[in-house]
Amino acid sequence: MGVKTTTRTLRSLKGVRPIVCLTAYDAITARIAEAGGADLILVGDSVGNTVLGMSDTVGVTLEIMVHHSAAVTRAKTERLVIADLPFALAHDSFSKVLKACRELLQRGGAHGVKIEGGASLAPTIAKLVDAGIPVMGHIGMLPQRVHSAGYRRRGLTTDDQTKILIDAQAVAAAGAFALVVECVDEALTPKITEAVTIPTIGIGSGQGCDGQILVIHDLLGFTSNPPPFANPEANLQRDAIAAVQRWAKKVRQQKSSK
Ligand code: KIV
Repeated sequence: MGVKTTTRTLRSLKGVRPIVCLTAYDAITARIAEAGGADLILVGDSVGNTVLGMSDTVGVTLEIMVHHSAAVTRAKTERLVIADLPFALAHDSFSKVLKACRELLQRGGAHGVKIEGGASLAPTIAKLVDAGIPVMGHIGMLPQRVHSAGYRRRGLTTDDQTKILIDAQAVAAAGAFALVVECVDEALTPKITEAVTIPTIGIGSGQGCDGQILVIHDLLGFTSNPPPFANPEANLQRDAIAAVQRWAKKVRQQKSSK
């Protein structure tokens, strides 16, 4: 059994060693993430694309997030479990945001929430932190904004770089315990990491962050089209199909030999 991770232990890793984060959507992927050495487990709303057959994360509801968070936390890992606040919810009234976070922690068993957004959400993040809800920020490319901004790499112009740095500092100043930096130009990420005292966790943003996060289905080669930065370490889709084919063949052979 490893050492239990908390927001405090995670923060203390900044500048000490790289932080390993991975998504999980159920008890089995949570156990794999922990056994493989992840420091933090994210119940990402990527559950929509990876598990539920959706084309993006917009259709992922609070109920879906509570359901999958509960499946992950039933695995009773020693890891910090963070759940995504679903599409546009953080922009609702604070009482609704607080209620949604309460559901994720009380019914889902998560230890905190991740919120996509920058400086405009800093007041909401500060109030959640004040209410005792650990918040992980998420800046750069925001998958929940696929219909307004698309899936495009960020930080390619000076204006955008300035905006991303302002977002990072505002979210950190609001009390977030860590910050996901998604698909941001590699030249900018070391500057973000230097500008904040909380750990930055990169995805598709090069090596300039304090840690890395991946979608477990991309890492394991379960998805058909993983993003180019995922570099799958296994090909479970191929192996699973081959296993099913072997078994199907055995079953058919048994039938025909009668
Ligand atoms: O939903 C998710 O899986 C995420 C990670 C990719 C950071 O937000």
